[in-house]
Amino acid sequence: MNEHLLSRRQFTARCAAFGLSLPALGAMLAARAAAQDPGTEAAPKPGARTVRLPDGTMVPSLGQGCWHLGQGRHPVAVEQEALRTGISLGMTLLDTSGNYGSGRSEQFLNHVIAGQRERIFLVSKVEGDEVSGDGIARACAASLARLGSEYLDLYLMHWPPPSATFPGMVAAFEQLRAAGKIRAWGVSNFNVGQMEDLFRVPDGHRCATNQVPYSLNNRRIERELLPWCREHNVPVMAYSPLGGDNHLVVGDRTLAQVGSSYGCSAAAVALAWVTRSGSVIAIPESGAPAHVRDNAVALSITLTPQDLQTLDAAFPGPPGAS
Ligand SMILES: NC(=O)c1ccc[n+]([C@@H]2O[C@H](COP(=O)([O-])OP(=O)(O)OC[C@H]3O[C@@H](n4cnc5c(N)ncnc54)[C@H](OP(=O)(O)O)[C@@H]3O)[C@@H](O)[C@H]2O)c1
Repeated sequence: MNEHLLSRRQFTARCAAFGLSLPALGAMLAARAAAQDPGTEAAPKPGARTVRLPDGTMVPSLGQGCWHLGQGRHPVAVEQEALRTGISLGMTLLDTSGNYGSGRSEQFLNHVIAGQRERIFLVSKVEGDEVSGDGIARACAASLARLGSEYLDLYLMHWPPPSATFPGMVAAFEQLRAAGKIRAWGVSNFNVGQMEDLFRVPDGHRCATNQVPYSLNNRRIERELLPWCREHNVPVMAYSPLGGDNHLVVGDRTLAQVGSSYGCSAAAVALAWVTRSGSVIAIPESGAPAHVRDNAVALSITLTPQDLQTLDAAFPGPPGAS
């Protein structure tokens, strides 16, 4: 029988019959592809999920958050290995901020991206209290110096400043874009009212993403913000996609059950769920190589309608969500 005609469950069952789990098979195929074409292993793999930004740039639907990295949660060498593992498995979008660890996250990334900058989609952030004067340009220059990079792929306003400052904020981002210091800009933690205010400003529609919390146990954006972003072609970048440090979903029984039919972890199922629409990018953070390998499996999982129903029952969405 043609393998393309097998359902994922049938395919998984056959892999199991040959002693292969789906993640093991994925890792094997990735290793084979890398061996055949060295230097291209970090490019999105055929079939791996990507999200299209408004300017046409394609990014992987799964990136890596870097909030606590380089700050002693794990040994530095282990965290470096974790990020490099993720990059080699296609999680080439890295999310940091000028204020993570007072710049230590960006300094840590400097060492990871050195020698492979062009393979990375680098995201950093500026704070709302840096909008006045040339504050955004100065913050960007400081981030670039810490990162050892000539440019950012995406620069985000971390938390919304007052709407009255949006025209100046957008103008500052656009100047950085024209100067080649950033390739795109976006926002974070903006609600629908703030997105509407932003879109009324000249060039406000150039906003490439809104980075907000989204996970199975935090589905609040499904009521208003997610539909608004869909209608206005603004991809959402989901932070804390595993629930965040204090509400992690990785120990959940339902997720583990769904994962068992794919031979993958609960974490991979949670991330496949966050990225299921094709217009949401998830940025899980991990400083542990084994966790990163688990997470990367989400790039190759497509949950079935039955899986989605099971997860809806265990983690109901907000009333009135579409
Ligand atoms: N824009 C904003 O305001 C904002 C706010 C918060 C976060 N963020 C961004 O979003 C990123 C991720 O958010 P987050 O750190 O809050 O939450 P998260 O990614 O949902 O959770 C991170 C936690 O999950 C653990 N973990 C990761 N993979 C795992 C796996 N496969 N199995 C078990 N545990 C696993 C990590 O520990 P290990 O290191 O031990 O794996 C860490 O404790 C941040 O790094 C940051 O870049 C942005």
